[in-house]
Amino acid sequence: MSSYDVIIIGAGPGGYVSAIRCAQLGLKTAVVEGRDALGGTCLNVGCIPSKALLHASHQLHEAEHNFAKMGLKGKSPSVDWDQMLAYKDEVISGNTKGIEFLFKKNKVDWIKGWASIPEPGKVKVGDDVYETKNIVIASGSEPSALPGIEVDEDTVVTSTGALSLKKTPKSMVVIGAGVIGLELGSVYKRLGAEVTVVEFLDAITPGMDGEIQKTFQKMLTKQGLKFVMGAAVQGVTKGKNKNTVTYKLRKDDSEHTIDAEVVLVATGRRPYVSGLGLDALGVEMTQRGQIATNAHYATNIAGIYAIGDAIEGPMLAHKAEDEGMAVAEILAGQAGHVNYDVIPGVIYTHPEVATVGKTEEQLKAEGRAYKVGKFSFMGNGRAKAVFAGDGFVKILADKETDRILGCHLIGPAAGDLIHEVCVAMEFGAAAEDLARTCHAHPTFSEAMREAALACGDGAIHA
Ligand code: FAD
Ligand code: NAI
Repeated sequence: MSSYDVIIIGAGPGGYVSAIRCAQLGLKTAVVEGRDALGGTCLNVGCIPSKALLHASHQLHEAEHNFAKMGLKGKSPSVDWDQMLAYKDEVISGNTKGIEFLFKKNKVDWIKGWASIPEPGKVKVGDDVYETKNIVIASGSEPSALPGIEVDEDTVVTSTGALSLKKTPKSMVVIGAGVIGLELGSVYKRLGAEVTVVEFLDAITPGMDGEIQKTFQKMLTKQGLKFVMGAAVQGVTKGKNKNTVTYKLRKDDSEHTIDAEVVLVATGRRPYVSGLGLDALGVEMTQRGQIATNAHYATNIAGIYAIGDAIEGPMLAHKAEDEGMAVAEILAGQAGHVNYDVIPGVIYTHPEVATVGKTEEQLKAEGRAYKVGKFSFMGNGRAKAVFAGDGFVKILADKETDRILGCHLIGPAAGDLIHEVCVAMEFGAAAEDLARTCHAHPTFSEAMREAALACGDGAIHA
């Protein structure tokens, strides 16, 4: 029987990063992964494939809408869907093979198969049982089911099916205006589908800053996405060449239907813990079906830890990675820690949306005195040069101390720009610290500095 210091269950961003860090810290480490490839949801059917399709479809959008303006004339490219899928698959395999390489380099063993935990200190895979001092569960998440909807991953799909459709549809209904619905809805809109997003709430992207939500919805509407808001989906009926989605408007309870070739169900994800044997072990769970852990990622059973989408908190790859590193450090006797106040969130539509820290709504609810520094990308020369003047940066700072409390932006490269505020927040910086930092010209990042200046005596280019 092989024995380890740590066995990690699941090779997603939480598990594989944790394994590499455990090995770097001198722990004998193995990862059990049931999929044929490493990388979890994120690399195989999540972050990476969706970004590949977003990138390809954005190039098409640029060719159709902006090339001629720059003097690049000629026929727009047509879509070869099979080639686009092949490109996406190549991107996936390049990344998953990269993790195999990192495992070998760091001497992490990959045990292939599905794991269960017969008792603390033991992990069973097929007929083999491995002994280990510690177990880290990083088993991730799966799409939530919606009553009345039978997903076939053909024309009624979750994100997994939507990343590998047989052909690009002429029409698509997206159920849920969250991150998945808007990213993948944008992909198919750009590829020529009529896309209607049906959302239960009155605002898109729940939990985001209200001003961003409104601007974002307006921009997506301008791009041709249709929204039905305040609508509870009741079910989907499959027809021969179409699917019929039935929904009720919350304001008057009236029932409506809408037809589409493909229906994407994007109403959230839930932890995936099936088959691990947690019930029999007596592992405590939260009311939302997550594995309950303390601040050190320990469950109520000694020697069993959990991280990532399987536990509480935002279901984000970088949150899982940070927890993976923190738990490794804790197991190696160090002080692993994640600062949950500074976890950025990014939506990779065009333009991108990025957010970190408190929203205005949260600050108001907390009764906190704050100031707002805003700057429109219209005042940023670089953004205007590349047709990306729509959108703005908003920095929220403490009214008395000027300490940065949050930042929300929609605009070019938002997902990269947000990180200067993340670093500033980690150092407890004031808006003035950002405002006094020299930013190269002409860059999008000057908009961040201008928003910081707007927290004080005023932006220059506003
Ligand atoms: P996972 O990545 O889900 O990995 C868990 C792994 O454990 C899986 O490979 C599974 O096969 C394996 N496993 C489970 N049980 C067992 C078992 N018993 N034995 C062996 N193996 C097991 N997040 C972002 O931050 N940015 C994005 O752009 C982004 N885009 C996304 C797009 C889509 C379409 C989706 C669906 C998700 C996206 N996410 C994104 C979310 C991100 O994928 C997850 O937050 C992240 O993958 C969670 O990592 P994890 O390690 O906790 O779990
Ligand atoms: P989500 O929680 O972001 O959004 C789900 C939406 O569906 C909500 O707006 C909700 O109100 C709506 N909804 C629920 N039931 C409904 C019903 N019956 N009728 C109509 N609308 C309904 O979930 P989503 O988009 O599925 O994403 C899951 C997770 O994946 C998220 O937690 C997200 O963090 C992660 N993810 C992250 C990405 C990123 O970081 N760029 C990209 C994609 C996913």
